[in-house]
Amino acid sequence: MSNIKKIGILTSGGDCAGLNAVVASVVKAADKYGWEVYGIHNGTDGLTERPLSYELLTLQNFASSPWVRIAGSYLGSLNKGVKMESQAEMSRRFCEGVKELGLDAVIVVGGDGSMNIVSNYCKYAGVKMIGIPKTIDNDTPLTQYSVGFNTACQVCTDALDSLETTARSHHRALILEVMGRDAGHLAIQSALAGFADVCLVPEIPYTLQGIINKLEQVKKSGRSHALIVVSEGVKTETGEQVSSAKNLVGEKVHGGIGEYLSGLINQNYQGFQTRVTRLGHVQRSGNPTAFDRILAAVFGAKAVELLAEGKTDLMVGYSNGKIESYSLEEVVACGTSMLDKNSSLVKAAHDLGMYVGEL
Ligand code: F6P
Repeated sequence: MSNIKKIGILTSGGDCAGLNAVVASVVKAADKYGWEVYGIHNGTDGLTERPLSYELLTLQNFASSPWVRIAGSYLGSLNKGVKMESQAEMSRRFCEGVKELGLDAVIVVGGDGSMNIVSNYCKYAGVKMIGIPKTIDNDTPLTQYSVGFNTACQVCTDALDSLETTARSHHRALILEVMGRDAGHLAIQSALAGFADVCLVPEIPYTLQGIINKLEQVKKSGRSHALIVVSEGVKTETGEQVSSAKNLVGEKVHGGIGEYLSGLINQNYQGFQTRVTRLGHVQRSGNPTAFDRILAAVFGAKAVELLAEGKTDLMVGYSNGKIESYSLEEVVACGTSMLDKNSSLVKAAHDLGMYVGEL
């Protein structure tokens, strides 16, 4: 059992639907133990900047407000690449912040990068930490699902449904570029849900000829329109990243492969005209689906339960219908979870006739 009295909760990394529901479930579960819950503003910034930025969260925060039902992060978030200070300096400031606020534990709602960075800060500060996975990329290791992924998948599926009608009217092959960073989870699941003809993911090599062959097959079958999903992390056939933009620390950010492929298809194949939709940050929005709300509820409750049992350095997760916990060390060691090209999802897509690259 623990002697916890005060905990902090923060959301870190790119936002997504379901974050507010996670925070609400933590506050409700902690209330049972009489703990105070402090919402830390803007990811770790709330503890590393001066003055500290936080607020006491109580059941009242949820009683009369609809924010548990909407996307975004009420607390604010902080994405990688924004801060340039050294990790040692940030750990020191985080530690001071934790002490000033008197926190006994921190719950971090984040992706694989945040689990890595913030677990180091927490170790340095000697404060307990439990992680809750969230990301539209679904690339946090060990858990099968992260909060926000299911809603993002629904947003992409809705976009494919909308694109299908105009593709049909104009006899076009429409390309939808989706997010996912370096992993193809969002692309393959959206492509299956949205009945796409082609789905390109970073994990599987493809050829332009392969795409064209599929479009030609569609045309010969008597259908005069097609849908192509491409994950933002897909590279050119020869392995170059297509991106003109950089983040604040000079790393290339994803985006643009859809336009690139559209140009190539138009130059090399006359069967369909193409157009591109880059869905962008709307994928991080949308009202959280029932699945994401349920995940938020059970993950929040489990994180509090683990702390109440005196546990630390764990991430909650979902595996084969069960809510589990995994050592943060193991989570960090696993790195980013990529799409397995031998998975049943890829196999099903291939078996159903979708071009998913050169398997
Ligand atoms: O990791 C979540 C994510 O939405 C990725 O899918 C995307 O590549 C990235 O964040 C975009 O980040 P930013 O908000 O910095 O543009």
